[in-house]
Amino acid sequence: MATERTFSILKPDATKRNLTGAVNAVIEKAGLRIVGQRRIQMSRAQAETFYEIHKERPFFGELVEFMTSGPVVVQVLEGENAVAKYREVMGATNPANADAGTIRKTFSESVGENTDHGSDSLENAKAEIAQFFQDSDIVG
Ligand code: RTP
Ligand code: MG
Repeated sequence: MATERTFSILKPDATKRNLTGAVNAVIEKAGLRIVGQRRIQMSRAQAETFYEIHKERPFFGELVEFMTSGPVVVQVLEGENAVAKYREVMGATNPANADAGTIRKTFSESVGENTDHGSDSLENAKAEIAQFFQDSDIVG
């Protein structure tokens, strides 16, 4: 296994409920290191670009509305096998289907407002990190 970096977003439902520290505790306990982190208000354009792959899906409008409804925390996580490891720690997209102990099972209230995002491949992780971070803002 190799050391990888993945991209994470703590979504507006997490910032709104003051859960960013609680989610970060789960991330760190899983052995992932937070090597970049910034709290931002995502613009509509940023959200549309970020979730462009879903633009034809029926939930796209709702998703963009949600992602711009409040602050988010964008993060770079580093660790062994970080991309797959973080997806495991997050749990299934729908919290109802997520395994016990995962972030989404513990904290999420619905499939739309599901607390965090994690890259689904190393290639997407690189592109997503580049959308939100400069190299100098990542300190490993
Ligand atoms: P993410 O990209 O945010 O990490 O989530 P994911 O891979 O687990 O799920 P994905 O299929 O990529 O969907 C992206 C986000 O769209 C919202 N969604 N809503 N209402 C719905 O049926 C529905 N389906 C997906 C969720 O916020 C999901 O995380
Ligand atoms: Mg996804």
